[in-house]
Amino acid sequence: MCGIIGCALKNGSAAPILRKGLMRLEYRGYDSAGVATIHDGKIHLKKDSGKIDEIHARLNLDDLPGSIGIAHTRWATHGAPSQVNAHPHIDCDGLVAVVHNGVIENFLELKEELIDRRHFFRSRTDTEVIAHLIEEGLEAGKSLLESTIAAVKRLKGSYALAIISPREPDKIVFARNESPLIIGLGDGVNFIASDVAAFIEHTRRAIFIDNGEVGYITPSEVRVFKVDSGVEINKRIIELTWTIEEAERSGYPHFTLKEIYEQPQTVREALKAQEKYLDLLTEFLDRGRDVFLLAAGTSHNACIAASYMFSKIARLTTIPVIASEFIENYGRSIGIDSIILAVSQSGETADVLAAVDHARMTAATILAVTNVVGSTLTRVSRAYVLQNSGPEIGVAATKTFTAQLTVLAQLALRLARKRGKLAQYEIDELEEELRKLPELVEKTLAISDKPMRDLAKELANARSIFFLGRGISYATALEARLKVMELSYIPCIAYPAGESKHGPISVIEDGYPVFFIAPSDSTRKHILGNIMEMKARGAKIYCVGTEGDNELRENVDWWLGLPKVHEILSPIIYVIPFQFLAYYLALERGLDPDKPRNLAKSVTVL
Ligand code: G6P
Repeated sequence: MCGIIGCALKNGSAAPILRKGLMRLEYRGYDSAGVATIHDGKIHLKKDSGKIDEIHARLNLDDLPGSIGIAHTRWATHGAPSQVNAHPHIDCDGLVAVVHNGVIENFLELKEELIDRRHFFRSRTDTEVIAHLIEEGLEAGKSLLESTIAAVKRLKGSYALAIISPREPDKIVFARNESPLIIGLGDGVNFIASDVAAFIEHTRRAIFIDNGEVGYITPSEVRVFKVDSGVEINKRIIELTWTIEEAERSGYPHFTLKEIYEQPQTVREALKAQEKYLDLLTEFLDRGRDVFLLAAGTSHNACIAASYMFSKIARLTTIPVIASEFIENYGRSIGIDSIILAVSQSGETADVLAAVDHARMTAATILAVTNVVGSTLTRVSRAYVLQNSGPEIGVAATKTFTAQLTVLAQLALRLARKRGKLAQYEIDELEEELRKLPELVEKTLAISDKPMRDLAKELANARSIFFLGRGISYATALEARLKVMELSYIPCIAYPAGESKHGPISVIEDGYPVFFIAPSDSTRKHILGNIMEMKARGAKIYCVGTEGDNELRENVDWWLGLPKVHEILSPIIYVIPFQFLAYYLALERGLDPDKPRNLAKSVTVL
């Protein structure tokens, strides 16, 4: 996730407005930034790695001349955070400057093709291909809009684009597919941005651009067309009522809720994990004598789910280990044939890095799944895959858990294919389910918000809550427990449902709230027995299961039915109601869900 803004002013200097707008988008990414303007028939450009303020202190972004410009704040997905990889990107001859939010999936093949046609590439980003494609259109005598249309027709993936060219110095051309893009209509000024927060100081009149649309703004004009047909569209103007702070949270009261609702998009982005790196990790995983999944907190819960995925479909035994226990537990038994797959959103968790350091000394191979390019973990690992979730501001991980699982499921599927462990129809089925995931996530958000909000009222004063699941749903139970506990401060217990009779059942008394996570998968046949055991001791049973499972529904006190999903993907869907529950319990208890006490987003001490 990155942030883009463009500003077309009638009179005056665009650069200071662009920089201030960028600051409002910094929550979308902050590893590098840049601004490009047009003046005197030339593109003027400043960009660097670091946060916007730091770059501004070094380079003075405000003194770029000109009344038209574009700017970008980056969250790296292709190419490390560096000056050359920062946006805007320009073509060979300085005919065009481009800023982009999204991921171009077919950039490698486009890049090869463009290099064959003697284009010169400066960066390692996916974005730069767009500048060169547009350049070819301009060289062929097309307008900037026509060149952009021709370019985006070649792109596969997600993009929100803003493009300027000295050939048409009063215009900013834009295009959108799957990444947000909004026009702000001012007086003698128009904006284009990833988010209204970027321009709400200047105007509250906005037009929301939809997928497959392209167009341009000038200081006095806005025109929008369909990419496919070229037909012009009459877009509706919306009057925004948000404050600046609300705008930064896209109107949501808290970042945590915003991030829960971002999941259809973040799962979609996680599905765009780069093939070549997925293949590389698969190669290593296939070769290891032993494979450890190393992580802390929510990422550890993702690893527990992943261990079921790897074993179920790829017949690979993996050992999920809490990072702070790794050295004591396995430090002396690992070696050159060991594979350590470290999963860390931040890539900076000290416990993870200490374990990784130790493992490197034994010549083990370090692989990683992370959200932050340039993080220490990306530097010490042999190969890594990015989850592409953008910054997560809520301290409790939500969207990054589902994104990690989406990446890990793709790895498991690749390994299954490589090892010939699944029949073709099973591979096809799982691929289809993966494709449908963003849609399922969206449905689940719609189904679960209201029931969980209501339930939070009922459970606000609970002294303790139990979470039980079998199979891969044990991982979901652990994550449900962690979310509810860290946001509501209610002590919670999570157990594999089958194990609960070996101890924790002793705490059950009349009315004790017990959640069962019970999708209709291979564990479903045993779950009813576990429910009955708890019920017989007076527990109040809350169950999240598969829609249409009437037998379960009739045997529990509270029921939420979710769409059917492939067994190995179920945690991605079933965790969602519990993210809501945690969030609403915090509100009911008068707590700040974005900043739970005593916790930090990234724990960099051992
Ligand atoms: C902290 C955060 C958790 C996170 C854990 C691991 O405890 O509060 O939300 O899951 O660190 O973080 P990582 O960045 O390594 O995934």
